[in-house]
Amino acid sequence: MTSLLEVRDATKRFGGIVANEGVSLSVREGEIVGLIGPNGSGKTTLFNSIVGHHALDAGSIRFGGREITELRVPQIARLGLLRTFQQTRVFRGMTGIENMLASAPPEGTGLAVMFGRSQPREAARADDLLQFVGLYEKRHLRAGELSFGQQKLLEFAMALMRSPRMLLLDEPTAGINPTLINNLVDRLQRANAELGITLLVIEHNMPVIMRLARRLYCLAHGKILAEGAPEQVQRDPRVLEAYLGAA
Ligand SMILES: Nc1ncnc2c1ncn2[C@@H]1O[C@H](COP(=O)(O)OP(=O)(O)OP(=O)(O)O)[C@@H](O)[C@H]1O
Ligand SMILES: [Mg+2]
Repeated sequence: MTSLLEVRDATKRFGGIVANEGVSLSVREGEIVGLIGPNGSGKTTLFNSIVGHHALDAGSIRFGGREITELRVPQIARLGLLRTFQQTRVFRGMTGIENMLASAPPEGTGLAVMFGRSQPREAARADDLLQFVGLYEKRHLRAGELSFGQQKLLEFAMALMRSPRMLLLDEPTAGINPTLINNLVDRLQRANAELGITLLVIEHNMPVIMRLARRLYCLAHGKILAEGAPEQVQRDPRVLEAYLGAA
Protein backbone atom coordinates (compact mmCIF):
# COMPACT_ATOMS: atom_id res chain seq x y z
CA MET A 1 0.00 0.00 0.00
CA THR A 2 1.33 3.47 -0.80
CA SER A 3 1.90 6.03 1.93
CA LEU A 4 -0.09 9.21 2.31
CA LEU A 5 2.79 10.86 4.17
CA GLU A 6 6.36 9.83 3.56
CA VAL A 7 9.29 11.47 5.36
CA ARG A 8 12.73 10.36 4.15
CA ASP A 9 16.01 11.00 5.97
CA ALA A 10 14.86 14.32 7.38
CA THR A 11 17.53 16.37 9.10
CA LYS A 12 16.93 19.72 10.76
CA ARG A 13 19.55 21.73 12.64
CA PHE A 14 19.26 24.87 14.74
CA GLY A 15 22.78 26.24 14.93
CA GLY A 16 24.72 23.52 16.71
CA ILE A 17 21.62 21.57 17.76
CA VAL A 18 20.61 18.66 15.54
CA ALA A 19 16.86 18.52 16.28
CA ASN A 20 16.12 15.79 13.71
CA GLU A 21 18.68 13.51 12.09
CA GLY A 22 17.91 11.08 9.27
CA VAL A 23 14.30 10.68 10.31
CA SER A 24 12.23 8.43 8.07
CA LEU A 25 8.57 7.76 8.74
CA SER A 26 5.50 6.90 6.75
CA VAL A 27 1.78 6.97 7.36
CA ARG A 28 -0.80 5.25 5.16
CA GLU A 29 -4.15 6.79 4.34
CA GLY A 30 -6.66 6.09 7.13
CA GLU A 31 -4.08 5.22 9.78
CA ILE A 32 -3.70 6.65 13.28
CA VAL A 33 0.01 6.68 14.07
CA GLY A 34 1.61 7.83 17.32
CA LEU A 35 4.86 9.74 17.76
CA ILE A 36 6.40 9.49 21.21
CA GLY A 37 9.75 10.42 22.71
CA PRO A 38 11.20 12.29 25.66
CA ASN A 39 11.12 16.09 25.96
CA GLY A 40 13.38 17.76 23.43
CA SER A 41 13.67 14.65 21.24
CA GLY A 42 12.54 16.55 18.14
CA LYS A 43 8.85 15.68 17.80
CA THR A 44 7.52 19.20 17.34
CA THR A 45 10.43 20.06 15.04
CA LEU A 46 9.42 17.16 12.79
CA PHE A 47 5.84 18.46 12.63
CA ASN A 48 7.14 21.94 11.81
CA SER A 49 9.19 20.54 8.95
CA ILE A 50 6.34 18.42 7.60
CA VAL A 51 3.85 21.29 7.40
CA GLY A 52 6.37 23.65 5.81
CA HIS A 53 6.93 25.89 8.82
CA HIS A 54 10.64 25.58 8.26
CA ALA A 55 12.88 24.08 5.59
CA LEU A 56 14.76 20.81 6.06
CA ASP A 57 18.55 20.79 5.96
CA ALA A 58 18.42 17.39 4.28
CA GLY A 59 15.85 14.80 3.32
CA SER A 60 12.49 14.88 1.60
CA ILE A 61 8.79 14.81 2.36
CA ARG A 62 5.99 13.53 0.14
CA PHE A 63 2.26 13.88 0.74
CA GLY A 64 -0.39 12.24 -1.40
CA GLY A 65 2.28 11.11 -3.83
CA ARG A 66 3.51 14.65 -4.28
CA GLU A 67 6.84 16.18 -3.34
CA ILE A 68 6.17 18.85 -0.69
CA THR A 69 9.69 19.34 0.73
CA GLU A 70 10.02 22.85 -0.70
CA LEU A 71 6.42 23.97 -0.15
CA ARG A 72 5.37 26.40 2.58
CA VAL A 73 2.54 26.23 5.13
CA PRO A 74 -0.34 27.66 3.04
CA GLN A 75 0.43 25.48 0.02
CA ILE A 76 0.70 22.35 2.15
CA ALA A 77 -2.50 23.25 4.01
CA ARG A 78 -4.26 23.54 0.67
CA LEU A 79 -3.25 19.95 -0.08
CA GLY A 80 -5.12 18.94 3.09
CA LEU A 81 -2.25 18.53 5.55
CA LEU A 82 -2.80 20.53 8.74
CA ARG A 83 -1.43 20.59 12.28
CA THR A 84 -2.56 21.70 15.72
CA PHE A 85 -0.23 23.29 18.26
CA GLN A 86 1.26 22.10 21.55
CA GLN A 87 0.11 25.48 22.91
CA THR A 88 -3.35 26.01 21.44
CA ARG A 89 -3.82 28.80 18.95
CA VAL A 90 -7.38 30.02 19.07
CA PHE A 91 -8.45 33.66 18.83
CA ARG A 92 -9.16 34.25 22.50
CA GLY A 93 -11.16 37.41 22.03
CA MET A 94 -13.48 35.82 19.49
CA THR A 95 -16.41 33.51 20.20
CA GLY A 96 -16.35 29.83 19.35
CA ILE A 97 -18.47 30.35 16.28
CA GLU A 98 -16.34 33.30 15.12
CA ASN A 99 -13.19 31.21 15.52
CA MET A 100 -14.78 28.49 13.41
CA LEU A 101 -15.82 30.88 10.64
CA ALA A 102 -12.39 32.52 10.62
CA SER A 103 -10.95 29.03 9.98
CA ALA A 104 -13.08 28.41 6.92
CA PRO A 105 -10.96 27.64 3.87
CA PRO A 106 -9.83 30.61 1.76
CA GLU A 107 -12.08 29.44 -1.09
CA GLY A 108 -14.95 30.34 1.20
CA THR A 109 -15.26 33.71 2.83
CA GLY A 110 -12.61 33.15 5.53
CA LEU A 111 -11.89 36.30 7.49
CA ALA A 112 -14.45 38.16 5.41
CA VAL A 113 -16.94 36.68 7.84
CA MET A 114 -15.70 39.20 10.41
CA PHE A 115 -17.26 41.81 8.20
CA GLY A 116 -20.60 40.08 8.06
CA ARG A 117 -20.16 38.19 4.83
CA SER A 118 -20.33 34.63 6.11
CA GLN A 119 -22.21 32.13 4.01
CA PRO A 120 -25.05 30.13 5.51
CA ARG A 121 -23.37 26.91 4.39
CA GLU A 122 -20.23 27.70 6.39
CA ALA A 123 -22.24 28.71 9.43
CA ALA A 124 -24.15 25.43 9.32
CA ARG A 125 -20.92 23.51 8.98
CA ALA A 126 -19.41 25.40 11.93
CA ASP A 127 -22.48 24.52 14.02
CA ASP A 128 -22.22 20.84 13.03
CA LEU A 129 -18.56 20.64 13.95
CA LEU A 130 -19.10 22.46 17.25
CA GLN A 131 -21.78 19.85 17.98
CA PHE A 132 -19.31 17.15 17.00
CA VAL A 133 -16.73 18.28 19.59
CA GLY A 134 -19.37 19.03 22.23
CA LEU A 135 -18.97 22.81 22.26
CA TYR A 136 -22.21 23.84 20.58
CA GLU A 137 -23.74 25.11 23.85
CA LYS A 138 -20.70 27.30 24.39
CA ARG A 139 -20.46 28.63 20.85
CA HIS A 140 -21.21 32.24 21.85
CA LEU A 141 -18.60 32.35 24.62
CA ARG A 142 -15.30 33.97 23.83
CA ALA A 143 -12.58 31.35 23.38
CA GLY A 144 -10.59 32.95 26.21
CA GLU A 145 -13.43 32.07 28.59
CA LEU A 146 -13.23 28.37 27.74
CA SER A 147 -11.10 25.97 29.77
CA PHE A 148 -7.77 24.94 28.27
CA GLY A 149 -9.23 21.54 27.32
CA GLN A 150 -12.23 23.17 25.66
CA GLN A 151 -9.87 25.45 23.74
CA LYS A 152 -8.10 22.33 22.49
CA LEU A 153 -11.43 20.88 21.35
CA LEU A 154 -12.16 24.18 19.62
CA GLU A 155 -8.78 24.15 17.89
CA PHE A 156 -9.50 20.61 16.72
CA ALA A 157 -12.91 21.68 15.38
CA MET A 158 -11.26 24.66 13.65
CA ALA A 159 -8.90 22.28 11.88
CA LEU A 160 -11.86 20.09 10.83
CA MET A 161 -13.50 23.20 9.37
CA ARG A 162 -10.82 23.06 6.68
CA SER A 163 -11.68 19.45 5.74
CA PRO A 164 -8.16 18.07 6.15
CA ARG A 165 -7.04 14.83 4.60
CA MET A 166 -4.47 14.45 7.37
CA LEU A 167 -4.02 16.10 10.76
CA LEU A 168 -0.83 16.31 12.83
CA LEU A 169 -1.79 16.71 16.49
CA ASP A 170 0.87 17.98 18.90
CA GLU A 171 0.05 16.66 22.38
CA PRO A 172 -3.73 17.01 22.03
CA THR A 173 -4.46 15.83 25.58
CA ALA A 174 -1.68 17.64 27.47
CA GLY A 175 -2.96 19.79 30.31
CA ILE A 176 -6.60 18.78 30.09
CA ASN A 177 -8.75 16.93 32.61
CA PRO A 178 -9.59 13.19 32.33
CA THR A 179 -13.20 13.73 31.27
CA LEU A 180 -12.20 15.98 28.40
CA ILE A 181 -9.36 13.59 27.50
CA ASN A 182 -11.88 10.79 26.98
CA ASN A 183 -14.08 13.14 25.03
CA LEU A 184 -11.18 14.21 22.80
CA VAL A 185 -9.89 10.67 22.22
CA ASP A 186 -13.40 9.61 21.22
CA ARG A 187 -13.68 12.55 18.78
CA LEU A 188 -10.27 11.80 17.28
CA GLN A 189 -11.31 8.19 16.71
CA ARG A 190 -14.56 9.31 15.12
CA ALA A 191 -12.79 11.87 12.93
CA ASN A 192 -10.65 9.01 11.71
CA ALA A 193 -13.39 6.40 11.32
CA GLU A 194 -16.25 8.57 10.10
CA LEU A 195 -14.53 11.45 8.33
CA GLY A 196 -11.63 9.36 7.05
CA ILE A 197 -8.97 11.73 8.39
CA THR A 198 -5.49 10.25 8.75
CA LEU A 199 -3.84 11.17 12.07
CA LEU A 200 -0.27 11.48 13.28
CA VAL A 201 -0.34 12.19 17.01
CA ILE A 202 2.41 13.32 19.38
CA GLU A 203 1.51 12.19 22.91
CA HIS A 204 3.19 11.86 26.27
CA ASN A 205 0.10 10.21 27.78
CA MET A 206 0.81 6.49 27.22
CA PRO A 207 -2.70 5.13 27.95
CA VAL A 208 -4.07 7.63 25.42
CA ILE A 209 -1.64 6.75 22.66
CA MET A 210 -2.10 3.02 23.34
CA ARG A 211 -5.84 3.48 22.84
CA LEU A 212 -5.51 5.61 19.72
CA ALA A 213 -2.64 4.33 17.67
CA ARG A 214 -2.10 1.06 15.85
CA ARG A 215 1.52 1.94 15.21
CA LEU A 216 4.10 4.04 17.06
CA TYR A 217 7.37 5.74 16.29
CA CYS A 218 9.67 6.73 19.12
CA LEU A 219 12.14 9.60 18.69
CA ALA A 220 15.16 10.11 20.92
CA HIS A 221 17.88 12.70 20.41
CA GLY A 222 16.35 13.55 17.04
CA LYS A 223 16.50 10.02 15.63
CA ILE A 224 13.90 7.28 15.23
CA LEU A 225 14.72 4.79 17.97
CA ALA A 226 11.91 2.29 17.48
CA GLU A 227 8.86 1.68 15.31
CA GLY A 228 6.08 -0.87 15.47
CA ALA A 229 3.03 -2.03 17.40
CA PRO A 230 2.39 0.15 20.49
CA GLU A 231 2.82 -2.70 23.00
CA GLN A 232 6.09 -3.65 21.37
CA VAL A 233 7.50 -0.10 21.22
CA GLN A 234 6.42 0.63 24.79
CA ARG A 235 8.32 -2.43 26.05
CA ASP A 236 11.41 -1.83 23.90
CA PRO A 237 14.41 -1.54 26.28
CA ARG A 238 15.91 1.26 24.16
CA VAL A 239 12.69 3.25 24.50
CA LEU A 240 12.53 2.70 28.26
CA GLU A 241 16.13 3.75 28.56
CA ALA A 242 15.55 6.91 26.48
CA TYR A 243 12.72 7.96 28.81
CA LEU A 244 14.65 7.11 31.97
CA GLY A 245 17.73 8.90 30.65
CA ALA A 246 15.68 12.02 29.97
CA ALA A 247 13.94 11.99 33.36
N1 LIG B 1 13.09 27.26 16.58
C1 LIG B 1 14.09 26.67 17.25
N2 LIG B 1 15.28 27.27 17.41
C2 LIG B 1 16.28 26.66 18.09
N3 LIG B 1 16.20 25.46 18.65
C3 LIG B 1 15.03 24.80 18.53
C4 LIG B 1 13.90 25.37 17.83
N4 LIG B 1 12.89 24.48 17.88
C5 LIG B 1 13.35 23.43 18.57
N5 LIG B 1 14.63 23.61 18.96
C6 LIG B 1 15.44 22.64 19.70
O1 LIG B 1 15.35 21.40 19.03
C7 LIG B 1 15.29 20.33 19.96
C8 LIG B 1 14.00 19.55 19.76
O2 LIG B 1 12.90 20.34 20.18
P1 LIG B 1 11.39 19.91 19.93
O3 LIG B 1 10.56 21.06 20.36
O4 LIG B 1 11.23 19.43 18.54
O5 LIG B 1 11.25 18.69 20.93
P2 LIG B 1 9.93 17.91 21.38
O6 LIG B 1 10.22 16.47 21.19
O7 LIG B 1 8.73 18.46 20.71
O8 LIG B 1 9.90 18.21 22.95
P3 LIG B 1 8.62 18.34 23.97
O9 LIG B 1 8.18 16.94 24.27
O10 LIG B 1 9.20 19.01 25.16
O11 LIG B 1 7.57 19.16 23.29
C9 LIG B 1 15.40 20.97 21.35
O12 LIG B 1 16.74 20.94 21.75
C10 LIG B 1 14.94 22.39 21.11
O13 LIG B 1 15.51 23.27 22.04
MG1 LIG C 1 7.02 19.38 21.39
